[in-house]
Amino acid sequence: MTRNIGILGAMAQEIDEVKALLTDKTIVRIANREFVVGKINNVRCVVAFSKWGKVAATITATLLIQEFGVTDLFFIGTAGALADGLKVGDIVVSKRLVQHDLDARPMLSRFELPLLNRVYINSDPELTELAGKAVSDLLQNGVENMVGEEAVKEFNLAPTLHFGDIASGDQFINSDEKRNEILGLLPDVQCVEMEGAAVAQVCLEFNVPFTVIRTISDTADHNARVDFGKFIVEVANAYSRAIVLEIMRLI
Ligand code: ADE
Repeated sequence: MTRNIGILGAMAQEIDEVKALLTDKTIVRIANREFVVGKINNVRCVVAFSKWGKVAATITATLLIQEFGVTDLFFIGTAGALADGLKVGDIVVSKRLVQHDLDARPMLSRFELPLLNRVYINSDPELTELAGKAVSDLLQNGVENMVGEEAVKEFNLAPTLHFGDIASGDQFINSDEKRNEILGLLPDVQCVEMEGAAVAQVCLEFNVPFTVIRTISDTADHNARVDFGKFIVEVANAYSRAIVLEIMRLI
């Protein structure tokens, strides 16, 4: 079967850089979303901005699968770090996704997905390995080749690659209290964001392999708001573009 790769990005600016990579483009608009169909490095792709939060991302992922028949799905974006060793600029590739704001007790256990009998959804091992290889190739090549020397200095970038659990919820986490609450209940979680676990659930139900790639933009504590916007403009866009291009070279 010819592969048809779905790429979702969590920020409009980030995914615009990825859309710019496509050749032989067609633009399709459905439900206030723009899907760009084309090729990157001769691989058929459909690229879209997921929009923010679990519901919005669910709609976009479902459309990607149902309307465009994607065979694989990569989600790329930023996240707030929870794990101790993570720094701004590091990259986390998902092993498992969990919704940190899901709580149907007393009917179900905390974080349990209704009618799915599980708390975590595993990302696809092959796509996870592929994304990890793409990131590690890029980091070996030097982060300055992705973002330029100025951004490296400004954000003190010395990125490392991590694999692990990612938690999603409909909240931007920017307090020590909330951050510690999530970590206390889900100690293996590396980082938090707002879409990955929703996309994972869509992919599970449609049986489409997926993985999530997140660049650490902040530490999900009281500094989160200050760091975020600047980082997106100066670093995250360039990372997304480079990572997607490298994945397409490896496929
Ligand atoms: N995406 C990037 N940083 C985040 C944070 N601190 N909380 C939720 N989503 C994020």
